[in-house]
Amino acid sequence: MVTDAQKSLVQNSFATVATIADDAAILFYQRLFELDPSLRPMFRGDMTEQRKKLMQMLTAAVKGLDRLDQLVPVVKDLGRRHDGYGVTDKHYDTVAEALLWTLEAGLGRAFTPEVKDAWVAVYTLLATTMKDAAREARESLVTV
Ligand code: HEM
Repeated sequence: MVTDAQKSLVQNSFATVATIADDAAILFYQRLFELDPSLRPMFRGDMTEQRKKLMQMLTAAVKGLDRLDQLVPVVKDLGRRHDGYGVTDKHYDTVAEALLWTLEAGLGRAFTPEVKDAWVAVYTLLATTMKDAAREARESLVTV
């Protein structure tokens, strides 16, 4: 559950990270592949493009917190596509760790415990929506 105060904390802190978007995305993927080198070969495309796509999607998701009815279908689609990339539930934990690490690196002292908790709540919402949609799609495939 994400409170209104948490939405604001995430939106405001993301505005800071967005000013260093490409550097933040570079740090994120470096950290992700350090945490789990086996994820590297899953990214087959151009990483410059991938960094842009990730930041664009995060921008849309962070903005979209105010319009969850519109955001949820987009995030569900994203989750179903991730199933096709071979992403498993456990991978979402590794991405969470890399994301929180990157936010701390980018925000420094502004990454207070409240800001961290707010990001955990938002990431949990996104990841749960993605994982649930992927699982539902797999289950409906099995039953046809
Ligand atoms: C909130 C979580 C996540 C967000 C917002 C996100 C965002 C994105 C976006 C926007 C793309 C571009 C393609 C598309 O839109 O379908 C993408 C691709 C991809 N993501 Fe994610 N992602 C998330 C979680 C994960 C996780 C947990 C993994 C696991 C390692 C992962 C691995 C990948 C891979 C392998 C691709 C395809 C790369 C390629 O084709 O080269 N993502 N992601």
